[in-house]
Amino acid sequence: MTYDVVVIGAGAAGLMCALTAGYAGRRVLVVDHANKAGKKILMSGGGRCNFTNLASSPANFYSDNPAFCISALKRYRPEHFVELVDRHGVEYVEKAPGQLFCADSAKEILRVLLTECDWAGVEIRLKTSIEAVERAGEGMRLSTSAGRIDAGAVVVASGGLSIPTMGATGFGYDLARQFGLEVTDTRAALVPFTLTSHWKARAEALAGVSVEVVVSCRGCRYREPMLFTHRGLSGPAMLQISSVWQPGDTLSIDLLPGIDAFEALASARRETPRRRLSTWLGERLPKRLAQALIEWHGDDGVLAEYSNDRLAAWAERLGDWRVKPAGTEGWRTAEVTMGGVDTRSISSKHFAVMGLPQLRFIGEVLDVTGELGGHNFQWAWASGVACGLAL
Ligand code: FDA
Repeated sequence: MTYDVVVIGAGAAGLMCALTAGYAGRRVLVVDHANKAGKKILMSGGGRCNFTNLASSPANFYSDNPAFCISALKRYRPEHFVELVDRHGVEYVEKAPGQLFCADSAKEILRVLLTECDWAGVEIRLKTSIEAVERAGEGMRLSTSAGRIDAGAVVVASGGLSIPTMGATGFGYDLARQFGLEVTDTRAALVPFTLTSHWKARAEALAGVSVEVVVSCRGCRYREPMLFTHRGLSGPAMLQISSVWQPGDTLSIDLLPGIDAFEALASARRETPRRRLSTWLGERLPKRLAQALIEWHGDDGVLAEYSNDRLAAWAERLGDWRVKPAGTEGWRTAEVTMGGVDTRSISSKHFAVMGLPQLRFIGEVLDVTGELGGHNFQWAWASGVACGLAL
């Protein structure tokens, strides 16, 4: 079998690249070892796929080589993907500012991609494992469970390590090393935190409670909702900060964002001295959390009884709650992989390995990781299109 292009991975980036190259007249085959294309698309965004973010920009991405993503993101923007889904009649909603989700189901996004692949003449071969990839003259040769395949170029779109049960493997990293590329350290990101000892018991008792916070770590801060879970802390705030958190780090959590807790408490003491602290807290935080804070610190009373020192202690508990996670839930639940194939050896224009244009890497396998909110799919689309146009 001979193709102009073989794309390894029928995920977001691989399908986008394949259909783009197909429309450009290339004979394209997509191979995937999974029994279904686009499994992560289907499970994304709680089954409704946050398929882009209208405000997506290079500032929303982490990488050891931050300038790498600029070119592709500039050329294929969120509105381009919106045009595509509009053409297919997909209905969507803006759940949070800029974050577009399918109104109905993530299946709609996969339907768009598979329909476009079909129209572009792309072949897709599932349940096919790759045994070897090597150079063959000017092109590449793949040994697969379906036999030998020759290709003018191979595009590696095999994704990251998160959710191994969905088919994630380190295949792309191994292949990169085989061809002499560096792979930066990988770790689970956009992932909930686990807690131990009394903190775990406290979080467990509050499981299901959500509160808007500002969380800070390593100079980064996010203002988003935080969710208590049976294992620890989750919700957008925690997923976002997990991308910068390193084992041993302590998180600083402001439970009253935008409010100077000491000033607010002192003015409440002046204006409503007979009000109990628990009542004051209950008006600003979810009731269960307010109650729990009072129990944890064994301190309640009417505000008039509180000295400045006691108020300052509460202001610190509320404005700078210090939590040291035991770890994260790891690859089992992480949305993405931080790190990956080092982009310093890859062209930011066409995603070819420098000095080896017949081998290309796109999507999450690269060391480019987006923040929560549709940025990771935007990267998959943008890198897929940039590569596909240049094949
Ligand atoms: P992707 O992982 O999609 O595809 C890789 C493909 O390669 C898979 O089909 C896999 O089977 C195949 N493959 C792997 N190893 C192989 C091998 N050895 N041989 C053959 N095939 C192989 N992002 C976002 O922007 N909005 C969102 O709402 C969400 N939500 C979300 C929820 C959850 C639970 C997860 C896990 C992730 C998200 N994401 C997200 C992240 C998003 O899903 C992710 O960034 C993209 O799917 C990455 O696209 P890729 O095509 O690079 O990899």
